[in-house]
Amino acid sequence: MGNNTISSSIYSVMLLAISMAACVSTFAVPSSAKSSSSSFLFSAEAEALLNSGWWGNFSLANRCSLKGITCNRAGSVVRVEVHSYGTLSNMNWSSLPNLECLDLSNDDSPYLTGAIPGEIGTLPNLTHLDLSYNYLGGVLPATLGNLTQLVHLNLSWNYIGGAIPSSISTLSKLTHVHLDLSENNFLQGVLTPTLGNLTQLVHLNLAMNFIGGAIPSSISTLTKLTHLDLSENNFLQGVLPPTLGNLTQLVHLNLAAMNFEGPIPSSIGNLRTLIQLNLKANNLIGSIPLEIGNLKNIEQMDMSYNMLKGSIPSSIGHLSNLTSLYLRSNQLTGSIPLSICQLSSLAVVDMGHNNLHGPIPREIGNLSSLTKFALDRNDIVGTIPNELADLHLLEYLDLSQNNLSGKIPETVMITDVLDSRLLPPTNPIVAGDIVLVATMAFACLHPKPKSRPSMLRLSQEFLSRRKALAVPLHTVPLLNLWNRKMDFVHQSNEQVISAQV
Ligand SMILES: *[C@@H]1O[C@H](CO)[C@@H](O)[C@H](O)[C@H]1NC(C)=O
Ligand SMILES: *[C@@H]1O[C@H](CO)[C@@H](O)[C@H](O)[C@H]1NC(C)=O
Ligand SMILES: *[C@@H]1O[C@H](CO)[C@@H](O)[C@H](O)[C@H]1NC(C)=O
Ligand SMILES: *[C@@H]1O[C@H](CO)[C@@H](O)[C@H](O)[C@H]1NC(C)=O
Ligand SMILES: *[C@@H]1O[C@H](CO)[C@@H](O)[C@H](O)[C@H]1NC(C)=O
Ligand SMILES: *[C@@H]1O[C@H](CO)[C@@H](O)[C@H](O)[C@H]1NC(C)=O
Ligand SMILES: *[C@@H]1O[C@H](CO)[C@@H](O)[C@H](O)[C@H]1NC(C)=O
Ligand SMILES: *[C@@H]1O[C@H](CO)[C@@H](O)[C@H](O)[C@H]1NC(C)=O
Ligand SMILES: *[C@@H]1O[C@H](CO)[C@@H](O)[C@H](O)[C@H]1NC(C)=O
Ligand SMILES: *[C@@H]1O[C@H](CO)[C@@H](O)[C@H](O)[C@H]1NC(C)=O
Repeated sequence: MGNNTISSSIYSVMLLAISMAACVSTFAVPSSAKSSSSSFLFSAEAEALLNSGWWGNFSLANRCSLKGITCNRAGSVVRVEVHSYGTLSNMNWSSLPNLECLDLSNDDSPYLTGAIPGEIGTLPNLTHLDLSYNYLGGVLPATLGNLTQLVHLNLSWNYIGGAIPSSISTLSKLTHVHLDLSENNFLQGVLTPTLGNLTQLVHLNLAMNFIGGAIPSSISTLTKLTHLDLSENNFLQGVLPPTLGNLTQLVHLNLAAMNFEGPIPSSIGNLRTLIQLNLKANNLIGSIPLEIGNLKNIEQMDMSYNMLKGSIPSSIGHLSNLTSLYLRSNQLTGSIPLSICQLSSLAVVDMGHNNLHGPIPREIGNLSSLTKFALDRNDIVGTIPNELADLHLLEYLDLSQNNLSGKIPETVMITDVLDSRLLPPTNPIVAGDIVLVATMAFACLHPKPKSRPSMLRLSQEFLSRRKALAVPLHTVPLLNLWNRKMDFVHQSNEQVISAQV
């Protein structure tokens, strides 16, 4: 697959996201509209808007120029996008039969409370329903299944409970490009096989609810999906269905923090457009499939906190766009694959708390974008390669609880381990402070407790007169601090003192 295909598909996803961000208004004049019935309709619409209280007082003739109201050419309300409060029953919905877009998502208080009234289901032309970011409770009304023109449904960030009504699966006609019921925390029930009827779905987000049961294998019919997020539904269980591999348009797949068991299906390698894969915190077993190396576009991969065994496949070295790789807390064995060292975009590598053995490859020095490298709690042997000192962006390094030996290389300077975003101090007194603190920190980490400085010694050292560093900070090897060797100048007499703490 060429880069053109990939970028154009990403582009079309973006376009889609933009076009879905607001309803596209249409200006169709109902052909059947007779002036008398229209004027009756218009005054009923205006009255409903007035009675809702969301616009305060206004003259009925001005209904179409109200903030957040759009009328069609005939003068009938087709869009309502407004900051609303009170309850949804404030509005007489059956007075707005031509409504196509209802966006009452709120980014500020006061919010909508109460339940979603069944009357919402009586809006035959509704294509866009967004009630996100409110305090709506209750359960989802079954009448939602009457909104046969619906394209976009977003009820995320509310407190809605109960099961997802099975009638939703009848919205298959124009259904839904976006279904976002995430962050409700009360939605429960199971995912039924009828989910597979929503074949037009592009974006499905049911994260952070209490939905249970298994992922129905019918999910494989949702072949237009680009975003699938079922994460943090603690009751979802069973295995990852191999049919997931049929969702070949997926860009974001988040199945973190559920109770999935069994292996990662090798069909995951079919998801060649994936950019983000999150399988964190499940009970996945078996090994990481070799086919993972087919995910050429992947940037973020998280399989941490599972029970994965076997070695890290060297095919991971094919993932040239990978920026973060999280494999923490599994039971992975074998050595760190050398192929990883060719992934020049890698910024975060966390392989801590596994059973990895063998040495840290010198070629790790090729990972010039690396900011975080964690390898703690493994069985890594050998020495710390000098090449780690070449990683100038490295901010976090954890090699603790391994079986590493050897000295800190003399080529590692104290400035290599300081935050590279800050300029090193030019004032020799400040530089002296940094050296003193680092030396003391090392001294307190001495493997033999008896060689560690006492509290008294530490406080004396910190309370004594501040000393200037005799040499520029960037020339001080870290090893000297480990060996507690520091060259200070006493300000009074310009005399270099080699101190041994
Ligand atoms: C509402 O506004 C109309 C004209 O816009 C005015 O005639 C009417 O008195 C107002 N009512 C209230 C309660 O302010
Ligand atoms: C709501 O509007 C409909 C149609 O305009 C009307 O028949 C009905 O009486 C209204 N209901 C209320 C409670 O005002
Ligand atoms: C719905 O939309 C169609 C055309 O898109 C239009 O003819 C009709 O009048 C609208 N309103 C209702 C209530 O169906
Ligand atoms: C709307 O849906 C409900 C429940 O699914 C159903 O009983 C009712 O007949 C439907 N109403 C219309 C007008 O389609
Ligand atoms: C749904 O609404 C939330 C909150 O406003 C927003 O973050 C999210 O992107 C929306 N989802 C879709 C699919 O538009
Ligand atoms: C929905 O899916 C179920 C099972 O997957 C199927 O039996 C049913 O015919 C479908 N309904 C529609 C309206 O497509
Ligand atoms: C889904 O993928 C499986 C193999 O993983 C294949 O056998 C099956 O035909 C596919 N189903 C559909 C509907 O594409
Ligand atoms: C990797 O990222 C670059 C830049 O974002 C992009 O052009 C390219 O298509 C991506 N995929 C592969 C396989 O390199
Ligand atoms: C590391 O970089 C060097 C020079 O760019 C290259 O020759 C070598 O193949 C790289 N090694 C690995 C394992 O990627
Ligand atoms: C640490 O590695 C050495 C060889 O470098 C080996 O002899 C020793 O048994 C290892 N210790 C542990 C606790 O694995």
